[in-house]
Parts: sequence; C-alpha cells; structure tokens
Amino acid sequence: MARQHRSSITKLWFFRVMLAIFVLSSVALLVFANWHTVKYMLRPIWDTPPRSFAFIPHYYAHNMSMRELCALHGWKLRKRPRRVFDAIIFNNELDLLEIRWREIDPYVTKFLLLESNGTFTGISKPLWFGVNRKPGGRFDFAEPKLVYSAIRTPRLPRGVRPYVNEAYQRDRMNELFRTAGIRAGDLLLMSDVDEIPSGHTVDLLRSCDGIPPVTHLQLRNFLYSFEFPTHKDRSDTGSWRSTAHVFEPRVTQYSHSRVTDTMLADAGWHCSFCFRTVADIAFKMRAYSHADRVTRPDFLREERIQDLICSGRDLFDMLPEEFNYRDLIGKMGSIPSSYSAVNLPLHLLRNVERFRYLLPGNCVRPRV
Ligand SMILES: *[C@@H]1O[C@H](CO)[C@@H](O)[C@H](O)[C@H]1NC(C)=O
Ligand SMILES: *[C@@H]1O[C@H](CO)[C@@H](O)[C@H](O)[C@H]1NC(C)=O
Repeated sequence: MARQHRSSITKLWFFRVMLAIFVLSSVALLVFANWHTVKYMLRPIWDTPPRSFAFIPHYYAHNMSMRELCALHGWKLRKRPRRVFDAIIFNNELDLLEIRWREIDPYVTKFLLLESNGTFTGISKPLWFGVNRKPGGRFDFAEPKLVYSAIRTPRLPRGVRPYVNEAYQRDRMNELFRTAGIRAGDLLLMSDVDEIPSGHTVDLLRSCDGIPPVTHLQLRNFLYSFEFPTHKDRSDTGSWRSTAHVFEPRVTQYSHSRVTDTMLADAGWHCSFCFRTVADIAFKMRAYSHADRVTRPDFLREERIQDLICSGRDLFDMLPEEFNYRDLIGKMGSIPSSYSAVNLPLHLLRNVERFRYLLPGNCVRPRV
C-alpha cells in the first residue's frame, strides 16, 4: 500500500517535471522563432533612446530672398555660394537617383557616385548606373558634373558580417572626395540615394555663412511611395542619417551614422523601399545590411509583398523601433495613407507619367 502510494507520487512528479520541460521548451522555441518581435516588444525596457538631437528650426517659404532666409536662421548671406559636392553609394534605385539629381542639380558642383558589383551582403549585382549611363540617356544632364567610380566587392566568406563591405566602400568614397577635387570650405552632402535633400535646403546651406560645420538633415520618412508618410509628430526624429559637412581636409570622412547632435529640421525626403517593381523590392530585402531580417523564404513571395505595399504594413513583420510603449503601440499596424502630393520633389511632379507609382493612389506594382 505504502509502496503503491510512493510510486504514484513519483509518477505525479515525473509528470509535472515533463510538463514543465515541455512548457519551457515550447516557450523557448516560440521566443527563438520570433526573436526579433520579442526583442522589439521589450525594447522600451532594455534599450535607452539615443541622445536627442539639437534641432535647428528650418524656415522656408516660396519666393523669399536668400538674404531674408539666411537672416531668419541667424546666418549671413555669403558673397559667393559654396561649391557643393553630393556623395552617394549607389545600389539600384535608378528612379530616385534621377529625382534626386534633378532636385539638387541647380546647386551642385559635382555629383559623386560610387557603385559596386556586389551588395553589402555580397550578392552579385550589375553596375546599374554604369549600364544606364548612355549618351542621350536619362542621366546625360549630370555627365559634366559626374565623378564616377565602379568598385569590386569580394563575395563574403561565410560568417563575415556585411559591415566589412560597408567599411570598404566608405574608404573608396574617401578616395573619391580627393579625385573630385573637393577643397576646404566646400559643402559636402553624404546620404543614401533615397535620402533626398530638398533643393532649397542645399541652396540655403551653400549660400549662408555661419552654418554648423557638420549637421544632420532631418528628412520626412516615407515607405514604398509618397503615399505613406511615416513621420508622425515632433517626438518622431524621422530620418536623420544624412549629413551636410563644410569640408575640412584630413577631418571630414564619409559616414552614414551619427556624427553630431546638430540637426536641421525638415530638410527633405527619405523614401524607403520606393521601387517600381515587386522584384526590385524583393532584391532590396535580400541585399540590405539587415538581410538577417528575412527570416522565412515566404517573406519574398510576390503576393505578400504586393499586399503589404498597398496596406502600408512592414515587409519584415517587425514591430516599430520605439523606446516607449505609447509610441510602440501608436505605430503598430499599417501606416495610414495620405492624399497629399504637396511639397514633393519638383522633378517627380513634373514627370508624373513616368513616376506615377510614387504618388498617392498607385500602390499596385508590376511584378518585374
Ligand atoms: C516673388 O518675387 C518677385 C521678385 O522679388 C516679385 O516680383 C513677385 O511679386 C513675388 N511674388 C509673390 C507671390 O510674392
Ligand atoms: C566582383 O568582381 C570581382 C572581379 O571581377 C570578383 O572577384 C568578385 O567576386 C565580384 N563580386 C561579386 C559580389 O560578385
């Protein structure tokens, strides 16, 4: 009797332990499979927000004189504007490149473009700019100002982080500054192709004395097209990676990360994943430095991508990168679409026939 009792207690314990192991391992598996989601969900607890930026209020209205604009910022009109150099590392965003260059062309001295036969993640790619650089072609207008370099990126050995290739490309860009003949005091813009400073911002920075030696440019964020503005309110820093530098030899280095606290407000547009075709979007998802976010092959399915584009939802099924729960919850789900096409790049609005997919109400993309 006693023995039987003991045996049933042992059984009960055995059962409990097995159950506990089962529950724990299921939880561990779930957490593992949804690691990004869990990490982002807990971000308000484990992460502190980056130091906030010191914003320079930005004044602009159509038809104001440059003397008035410089004065409003507490700066002084220069006798002659600075020379302007625009430096980008190019992937395959041909339409945005055209819109960008046309937007700032009136103010730019040299366009610096670096491209490579491989993405940061080591995937082979054509030299897209090289292929589209033809006499009489869409980029012909930029030819007299162009400083172009095509580089070879090695395939990545297994286990090597894509950041190695990024560092290599940055060094090649620093060489390109010298090739382009940039001098002390020139204005140098550093950004990705899809981070487009507005023309009037570039004009302001080249025309006034007293601007900060280095400043980040706050850009309005958009996803897939100008239909989906993701910038919410003043607490939302928006896109901040692009910078404007007053060039200083031996000091100024190419960078695409935080270099100063200063930031000029509302200085242009950042259109992420703004591609004409679903195939281009899928390519970008794999080519991206964060290719580790493509956690399931299913992510690259065409219908899925098309659905997400039209509903303004995240391609990687990720939670927004936020530091408090109010913002995290506020930004979950789809981005409300906007009907506004006011204050967009000039060349886009002058060529709506060619760039219609970038405007509100045109989310359906061709496959290839
Ligand atoms: C814009 O500026 C020009 C030249 O200064 C002036 O003649 C014109 O009246 C201005 N237009 C508006 C709408 O203020
Ligand atoms: C780029 O070209 C070089 C030489 O032609 C080659 O060795 C390298 O593998 C290429 N990179 C990629 C990512 O295809």
